[in-house]
Amino acid sequence: MKKIIVIGASSGIGAEIAKEHLKKGNQVALVARREDELKKISSEFKNTIILKQDVKKFNESKKNFLELVNRLGGLDEIYYCSGVMYKISPDEFSTDKDLEMIDVNFSGAVAWLNEAAILFQNLGKGKIIAISSIAGDRGRVGNPVYNSAKAALTTYLEALRNRLARKGITVLTVKPGFIDTDMTKGMKGLFWLISANDAAKIIIQATDKNKEDIYVPARWWFVATIIKLIPNFIFKKLNV
Ligand SMILES: NC(=O)c1ccc[n+]([C@@H]2O[C@H](COP(=O)([O-])OP(=O)(O)OC[C@H]3O[C@@H](n4cnc5c(N)ncnc54)[C@H](OP(=O)(O)O)[C@@H]3O)[C@@H](O)[C@H]2O)c1
Repeated sequence: MKKIIVIGASSGIGAEIAKEHLKKGNQVALVARREDELKKISSEFKNTIILKQDVKKFNESKKNFLELVNRLGGLDEIYYCSGVMYKISPDEFSTDKDLEMIDVNFSGAVAWLNEAAILFQNLGKGKIIAISSIAGDRGRVGNPVYNSAKAALTTYLEALRNRLARKGITVLTVKPGFIDTDMTKGMKGLFWLISANDAAKIIIQATDKNKEDIYVPARWWFVATIIKLIPNFIFKKLNV
């Protein structure tokens, strides 16, 4: 039985990752702000621990991490799934929204995953998984700071992997395309949409195979590769 922490487990991809692990009989600690949603999941399964935290409260993360590891009796895998993407209109520059997107998508991940890195490097084993996005591969007109926060997360995870691989620890960067969750509800122009449960299964399978970097589903790799190859003078005229 594996011992697992999922941050951002109250809905969407994180909730489905938590449920898939619980179905397999693993022990899972669920973290998010919406305690009612965490309680709904925990009422369906044994072996759950729930903990309410706003990940923007960075100074609570170390204490909460250590408390959960203690209550689980160890830790095998940690998934950072918390994220927020505000709607930003074409002429809008909102520092409040932007700083929150940096805090939840990036700084919150650093505050939790640094603690996991410390534990796992002492143990000489462990798996760190975090959900970045294909949106972090380039700076686009639509949502500059969501792109930037995900780019920062991707780079942080690469650096963690390069530090920790030699100590027997796996770090998986997950870059989804479009997944059917609260985050994408009402968005126009979505394609290749898959369910959060299908995404969760792909992510867990990649974790089991010790993969390091995946697009979800894999066909988004082709889109990302083309987007990364478009020269700046053309890209700045596009609305992608
Ligand atoms: N859906 C997509 O198409 C897509 C594509 C690429 C990447 N992603 C990424 O996938 C991840 C999961 O998103 P999702 O699509 O599953 O959307 P979601 O259903 O909205 O899930 C977001 C999760 O983040 C948590 N969260 C948000 N703010 C938080 C805070 N301040 N403190 C703690 N937890 C917080 C939410 O919990 P509470 O509100 O209960 O706190 C919720 O559990 C995000 O990082 C997102 O950027 C999604």
